Amino acid sequence: MKSFVEQSNFFGTENPEALAKQYGTPLYVYNEENLRAHMKAVAGVITKYPYRANFSMKANSNLSILKMALEEGLNADAMSVGEMTLLLKAGFPSDRIFFVPNNVSEEELQFAIDHDIMTSLDSLEQLELFGTLNPGGKCSVRINPGVGAGHHEKVVTAGKKTKFGIEESDVDAIFDIAKKYNLHIAEINQHVGSQYLDPQPFLDAVENFLRIAEKFDELEYIDFGGGYGIPYHKLDDEAAFDMESFSERFTALLDAYAERHPDNIPLFKSEPGRYCVAEGGVILGRVHATKQNYGNKYAGTDIGMNVLARPTLYDSWHDIEILRDGKAVTEGEHEEVYVTGNICESGDLLCKGRNLPKIQRGDLVCVLDAGAYGFSMSSNYNSRLLSAEVLITKEGKAKLIRRRQTFEEMFATFPEE
Ligand SMILES: Cc1ncc(COP(=O)(O)O)c(C=O)c1O
Repeated sequence: MKSFVEQSNFFGTENPEALAKQYGTPLYVYNEENLRAHMKAVAGVITKYPYRANFSMKANSNLSILKMALEEGLNADAMSVGEMTLLLKAGFPSDRIFFVPNNVSEEELQFAIDHDIMTSLDSLEQLELFGTLNPGGKCSVRINPGVGAGHHEKVVTAGKKTKFGIEESDVDAIFDIAKKYNLHIAEINQHVGSQYLDPQPFLDAVENFLRIAEKFDELEYIDFGGGYGIPYHKLDDEAAFDMESFSERFTALLDAYAERHPDNIPLFKSEPGRYCVAEGGVILGRVHATKQNYGNKYAGTDIGMNVLARPTLYDSWHDIEILRDGKAVTEGEHEEVYVTGNICESGDLLCKGRNLPKIQRGDLVCVLDAGAYGFSMSSNYNSRLLSAEVLITKEGKAKLIRRRQTFEEMFATFPEE
């Protein structure tokens, strides 16, 4: 059997056991070369037309990784004042930030307006609110094209049963509100869902969106959303998203639009999050106890659902490697095992009955493809501290890019008694 971390030299010149000892576990570890290669790939998807990929920072909001995205020529999108603030802190100029919220307060919209950040409005009421706050301004509207796609019901972000966007039949109402407040609808955006390895649903959505775009005048930007998938089953040789053929097919759709509108070609945009960062991150966790319970073997680690929520939230699969004395265990006895965290929930499982090398107390568990929606979705549940994050730099050396939270920080919001 192969080991992804060893074959890809994920830890560079560092030994994962030494990293775990130095920084403690659970520990997020990222590989800079891997991250940059994925960022470069999305930045270069369209070369024939004006194009920008926005890094969707909800996938990973580490400041060092945001700076990397900026260096790789990506714009970024934000969901909240916190995310906009972090992007500004990372050095993104306002005109490279796109605020794509839903159901936000007047104060949050005002923050974007004050910072000159292009904002997408997700409902007619929010558009109306934006109009009252910023008459004569420019904005985007999020259209829900009525169809969605994705690996799990909870990540399908368009379609008739989701909360997102404004339905196409409300386009005239958009124009009425725009007229009332003298707003320029300079952009339309959509995001149909997440984690598709077959690009067809995205391409269908692009084609459909270009049809919808024809209802709008003077669009400066058309944003097709994100969702490109990554091979979470890479140890079983799952094929990666084929960027080259995707890029050709995407360009062909834009060709058809450009032919119809040769004098009015907007800047095309997309919003990939996961693709940029998922494969460039792993989590190292320590096995603290193993046991048999009614015929099942459990390996209990410190990677709880507070550290990685995806398996509990979406039943997501993450490949797992076992490391012993700093080396991947690939040969020898294998057995079916439930790898669990240390959280008081029966859903706190990284995998169920998976065939893995026989796990012993003291081993390290390495969870692959954890760079997206990993740390950014982690929490203090069960009053556990947020993990540290380490980057393996291009030189192959470890660099701490977020230290572990302290108990003082976790409790700092309580008033003094
Ligand atoms: C509006 C929007 N854009 C982009 C993304 C990024 O999606 P992904 O990480 O699958 O590329 C999301 C994810 O939920 C989103 O809601």
